[in-house]
Amino acid sequence: PLSWFKQQRSAGTAVFNEEHQYWSVFGHEGVKNIHTDFEHFSSQIQPPSDDSPIDSSILRTDPPRHKLMRATVARAFTSRVIEQMESSIERLAGELLDQAGSAGRLDIVSGIANPLPVTVIAEMMGIPQGDRELFKKWSDDLVGNDPARQMQCQEEMALYFKDILKSRRAQPGNDLITALIEANVGGGTLSEIELIGFCILLLVAGNETTSNLISSSILCLESAPEAWEQLLKDNSLIPSAIEETLRYCSPVQILERRVKADMQWAGNPFKEGQLVLTYIGSANHDERVFDEPERFNIHRRPNPHLAFGHGIHFCLGAVLARLEARIALKALLNRLPRLRRTDNQPLERLDSSMMFGLKRFIIENAVR
Ligand code: HEM
Repeated sequence: PLSWFKQQRSAGTAVFNEEHQYWSVFGHEGVKNIHTDFEHFSSQIQPPSDDSPIDSSILRTDPPRHKLMRATVARAFTSRVIEQMESSIERLAGELLDQAGSAGRLDIVSGIANPLPVTVIAEMMGIPQGDRELFKKWSDDLVGNDPARQMQCQEEMALYFKDILKSRRAQPGNDLITALIEANVGGGTLSEIELIGFCILLLVAGNETTSNLISSSILCLESAPEAWEQLLKDNSLIPSAIEETLRYCSPVQILERRVKADMQWAGNPFKEGQLVLTYIGSANHDERVFDEPERFNIHRRPNPHLAFGHGIHFCLGAVLARLEARIALKALLNRLPRLRRTDNQPLERLDSSMMFGLKRFIIENAVR
C-alpha cells in the first residue's frame, strides 16, 4: 500500500529486518544507486545450478560474464526484430478481442492481457502452432502458487527447448532461437544450459509482467475518465499513458541484490551476503522525484520511473513490452470506447508481493 511505502521512505535510506536479517530500500535515489552499483551488489541470489536454468541465466549473472552474455543475446533481440512484429501484434490483438466478444462483457485479463504476450513470444521463437497451448499452460503454471509445479514446469521447458535448439541447429529458421544460436556461434559465449535458460527466461520474465502492464493500464484509466477521454481524442498520448502505468502500477514491485562485501551504504552497515530488497513500487512514488506522486497523470514529463530496472540489467524486453502494451491499449480504445467496470466485486490482486497484477478485470462497453 502506498501509505506504508511513504512511511518506509521517511524511515531512513534503508530499513533492516531483524528477524530475517535483510535490508529494504524504498527511496528512488537509493534503488537507482543499488542497481547502478553492480560492483558492490550482486545479482547472483542463489548459487548457479544445473537444476534451475533461471539461476544460471543472464538475470542472475554478474560482470564480467554478464557483459558477454548481454552482448550475445542483444544481437538476437534487437529493436529491429521487435519492430518487425508490430503488424502481427496488431492483428493478434484484434483477433483476441473478436474472440472475446467486443460488444459485450470482457475480462481484460483472460481476454487480451494474458494471451497476447505469450502468443507474441511463441511466434517470435517460431514455436509450431500445435505447441502454443503448451506454452500457455507453462506460462499460467509459472505464475500459479504451486512451487512443486513451478519446478516441474522448468524441467519440462528445459527438455522442450533442448529439442527445439537441436532442431534449429539442423534446420535454421527466421526466428529468435535461430538468431540466438547464430549470435552465439562466433564467441561461443553461452553454454547449452545458458541458452536453454535464456529461452525460459523470455517466457518467465516477459509474459506475466507484460500481461500485468496491459491490465493495469485499463485499471488506471478506468478510474481516470478524463484521461480516457483525452486518449480517445488523441492517440498520440498512448505512449505516455503506458509510461505512467509503468510508474503508477509497476508490474515488478521488488528486486533483489546480495551485498558482496561489508560496507557502509548511505550510513547503514551492510554485511557480506545480506540480501537487499529494492522496492521499485515505492521508488516510483517517491515525492522527492515525482510531483503529486499519487496522481495518475498521463501527461507526466519527464517520467524517470524505474519499472524496467536500471543499469546493466535494464530490461532487455522493454521495447517489446511497450509495443505490446501500446497496441493493446489502442485496440481497446478503438473497439470499446465506452468501457466501464460493471461488477461490484472487490478487485482481486495476484497473490504476490513481488509483482503487481490482477486476477481478473471484467468490463462492459456501456451504451451511450
Ligand atoms: C530484466 C521488468 C518485460 C526480458 C528486467 C528487469 C526488470 C524488468 C525490472 C531488471 C532485473 C534486475 O535488474 O534484476 C520488466 C517489465 C516488463 C518486462 C516491468 C513488462 C512490462 C520483458 C519482456 C522480455 C523481458 C517482454 C522479453 C521477452 C528481460 C530480460 C532481462 C530483464 C532478458 C534480463 C536482462 C539482464 O539481466 O541483463 N525486466 N520486464 N522483459 N527482462 Fe524484463
